[in-house]
Amino acid sequence: MSQDFDNAAKGYDETFTNTKIGKQQRQVVWNYVDQILSDSPKSILELNCGTGEDARHFAESGHNVIATDISRKMLTITKGKCQTLDQVTTQVLDLTNLPNLDQQFDLIFSNFGGLNCLDRDQLKRFAEWSLKHLKKDGSLVLVMMPRDTLIEKWYRKYKGDNNSIELRQSNQPTAVNVDGQAVHTYFYNPKGVIELFANLNVAQIKATGYVPSYWSEHRLEGLLLGLDLFFNLISLSPKYGDHFLVHFHK
Ligand SMILES: C[S@@+](CC[C@H](N)C(=O)[O-])C[C@H]1O[C@@H](n2cnc3c(N)ncnc32)[C@H](O)[C@@H]1O
Repeated sequence: MSQDFDNAAKGYDETFTNTKIGKQQRQVVWNYVDQILSDSPKSILELNCGTGEDARHFAESGHNVIATDISRKMLTITKGKCQTLDQVTTQVLDLTNLPNLDQQFDLIFSNFGGLNCLDRDQLKRFAEWSLKHLKKDGSLVLVMMPRDTLIEKWYRKYKGDNNSIELRQSNQPTAVNVDGQAVHTYFYNPKGVIELFANLNVAQIKATGYVPSYWSEHRLEGLLLGLDLFFNLISLSPKYGDHFLVHFHK
């Protein structure tokens, strides 16, 4: 069966992973996660792994990764990227139909918005499932898209696109166009996520960046990245970010 992100798989690295802003945001995530993983090899369950950029990074640091996604096309790219790395295995896993795995992990990890495909009830079920599949002292690191993202809001206002400004505030799914496929997307601020994951302890919440990746190579990119630096300096709330990272501890 074809999945929402199948169309996006081929061009995903070009339009997101390899853009200056995409790379910058991923580096913020790696800097944080590398520091919680430390040196000894850890077991990682990666959810919605996409094209496997993170799986490759963690495996190259010596960790064992089960990289999962609902899209077989994404997983094919992950397999290709990680073919020389024995520590990476791939598996189809649908976050809306969570299987019981007979293993617990040091880290369960979801990067860049895969969990924004879940509604509140599904996210709550995911929180319970995570608790069960984390080792004692294990970490759950999620990177998601907030409701109150600032720069996109300003941009839409500037374009006079008033209807879509408040779309992220809705509890109804927003149909986001992903390479021609309308993907149902739900936006959450950090506070809303923490409420749903009350069974775990919050260790950190931070913005991974405030500028959406589609500004890469735009003539305003430099200016916006300057603004990003400023927002970081003043520790502007992660709810205004393009994505935010939340780290839970069991
Ligand atoms: C924006 S991409 C993020 C990919 C990757 N984590 C990264 O860091 O680049 C979102 C991913 O979520 C996956 N996804 C969407 N719905 C899913 C579901 N119900 N179960 C598992 N993966 C899903 C998509 O196939 C896609 O690969």
